[in-house]
Amino acid sequence: MMLVKLGGSVITDKTNYLAYREDVLSRLVAEIVAARKDIILVHGAGSFGHVLASEHRLQGGYTGDSQIPAAAKVMEDVRDLNLRVMRTLNAGGLPSASLPPSAVASLRSGELDILDVGMFRRYLDLGMCPVTFGDVALDSERRFGICSGDQLMERLAHEFRPQRVIFVSDIDGVFTADPTTDPDATLIETVDRETLDSLPRTHRCADVTGSIFGKIETMMRIASWGGDAVVLNGNAPGRLGAALRGEAVVGSKVKGGEA
Ligand code: IPE
Repeated sequence: MMLVKLGGSVITDKTNYLAYREDVLSRLVAEIVAARKDIILVHGAGSFGHVLASEHRLQGGYTGDSQIPAAAKVMEDVRDLNLRVMRTLNAGGLPSASLPPSAVASLRSGELDILDVGMFRRYLDLGMCPVTFGDVALDSERRFGICSGDQLMERLAHEFRPQRVIFVSDIDGVFTADPTTDPDATLIETVDRETLDSLPRTHRCADVTGSIFGKIETMMRIASWGGDAVVLNGNAPGRLGAALRGEAVVGSKVKGGEA
């Protein structure tokens, strides 16, 4: 089994509220279908989630009633994105079942607490690809919060122990510096604790669920449970397909650190 996260930066235009990139997703779905592997899919929220979530500070949980309409709107928007994703998956030949975190998960102080993994297992057994996504969810301490795709990836990797865990992003992988501003930036093929600690701490885009560093920390925990954790560029045709077939591919592989 393989676990794949389609980052919000690949399936949406993160700088443009509600901009969906259907052409990219259709191609990625074709690569998944051609690879003929059992997979669980997670997708990010991109501009369908982060813009409003950050404007109304939803990440930290309930601070006042004025946030409630915004939380409901983010839920509506990420469902809108999820429905578009589901249509693309089903039309592309990957019969899929949507499992929204607001209905199958809950948080405790911003951390993923409960996830109904049995549900994912049963849809997989039925021959459907379970799909979940970054969403607003209930929080037992903070009343509500944001459940990110990366939190879901970590829990699903822990429960299913997939052969490969693939993060599909809009850049080739982890670089020594920001490749959009530094021409000397080079791709790091294997990232370990030492390389992570030596990287300059910059980030490009306002993102309520954290920077690339948080993502790499998550990937290190995942890799420590046995499977490969890789990050690759979904805008480059063929890379996701190659990674699903177990081939070497341009990207960064994260080595397990302490769990
Ligand atoms: C964010 O999910 C969820 C919301 C803001 C509602 P992710 O953190 O997984 O989304 P991306 O991949 O960064 O867009």
